Amino acid sequence: MSDTPSSPSRVIPIQVDSGTAYDKPAPSSNLELTQVGKGTPMGEWLRRYWHPIGVLSDASSTPRKVRVLGEDLILFRDLSGRPGLVYPHCAHRGTSLFYGKVEEKGIRCCYHGWLFDAQGQCMERPCEPAPDAHRHKVRQPWYPVQELYGLIWAYMGPPDKKPVLPRYECLETLEDGEFLEANDNSIGGGGPQVIPCNWLQHYENLVDPFHVVILHSAFSGTQFVEQMALMPEVTWDTQAHSVRTVSIRHLPDGNVLRRISEAGLPTLRVIPSPRIGRYGMVESLGWVLPIDDHSFRIYVVGRVKEKGELVKMRSRLNGKLWEELTEEEHQQYPGDYEAMVSQGVIAHHSEEHLAQSDIGIVKLRRLLKQQLQRIQDGLDPAGVSFDVNSPPVHFSAGNFLVCKEDLKN
Ligand code: FES
Ligand SMILES: [Fe+2]
Repeated sequence: MSDTPSSPSRVIPIQVDSGTAYDKPAPSSNLELTQVGKGTPMGEWLRRYWHPIGVLSDASSTPRKVRVLGEDLILFRDLSGRPGLVYPHCAHRGTSLFYGKVEEKGIRCCYHGWLFDAQGQCMERPCEPAPDAHRHKVRQPWYPVQELYGLIWAYMGPPDKKPVLPRYECLETLEDGEFLEANDNSIGGGGPQVIPCNWLQHYENLVDPFHVVILHSAFSGTQFVEQMALMPEVTWDTQAHSVRTVSIRHLPDGNVLRRISEAGLPTLRVIPSPRIGRYGMVESLGWVLPIDDHSFRIYVVGRVKEKGELVKMRSRLNGKLWEELTEEEHQQYPGDYEAMVSQGVIAHHSEEHLAQSDIGIVKLRRLLKQQLQRIQDGLDPAGVSFDVNSPPVHFSAGNFLVCKEDLKN
């Protein structure tokens, strides 16, 4: 019998795990592209354009609180019909004009009755010994507003840089029986009016045609039409005032669906209907309005043939509208709201792994960065015009059918 000690059992080192969440650095976001407050690069660029801030009826004799680009404001319509948008704190001693009373010539503060017109000019100071004296020296801070396409538009940038309020070819060219309809309902896939995440998450969604195939077709059932479930061949290109996405789908009948959508500057959703009710030029435009860094909402104007048509186009998941779904159903049938809001209040850009299918996102961010640079260089942003006779803005977006016979030629 050998007295050699039994050989020690071999020590097999424990394999060190890699990629665990323990080593993950804290996430960060691209603040240059996401912050919208006054004085930030994006905030200043956005302030060089007109933005929709309400539907026409939002401006009424009842003052309304609105929040736009991180600023709290009061919207009203004086009794002679002029809309006004003013800083909330009265120029006298700061009481909110939300409690003001709207009159023929403007809005009157509840505290001491100073009256301001739609351009902030002080019209009356009833408690002063000489109510009319010096009133011209007081101005309630205000912003210019205009009404067009059923929406109220505000310009919140430097006064000497105010461009003309643009008109759009696809809203100016109406077929027989068509009329314009405006609404402030939500993102197409449904959700509350105010979406609790950064506006850029929705803006980037516009150049992301692949999520239509996965999220809106495979994952949550066919939300639109069957053609949209086909995996497209996609190309993107940067235009003067948009990033354009061209999606080609080879249909089972041999025809080709050529779908062009655009993310237009500064916040435009130029997306033809994914329900493909008719072919041709895009039917509606949407504007993503950044409320602040952490929320946005959407205004839409479309050519319709029936009243309420835009609202009827809202997606249903499992046969229900977004707000009718239970938490479990939201989990089972997620839509744009769930996909975008769960990216974070502001998406964690440092943790992204962009791939080939994100080329549109890269192009869009590049275009936005170029725009921020233009402002820093003292130039005008893309797409603004100072000529009242400038033609309507043209987009090439639409759903187009290329018949197989034409493909052969
Ligand atoms: S605080 Fe508004 S009138 Fe005095
Ligand atoms: Fe979507």
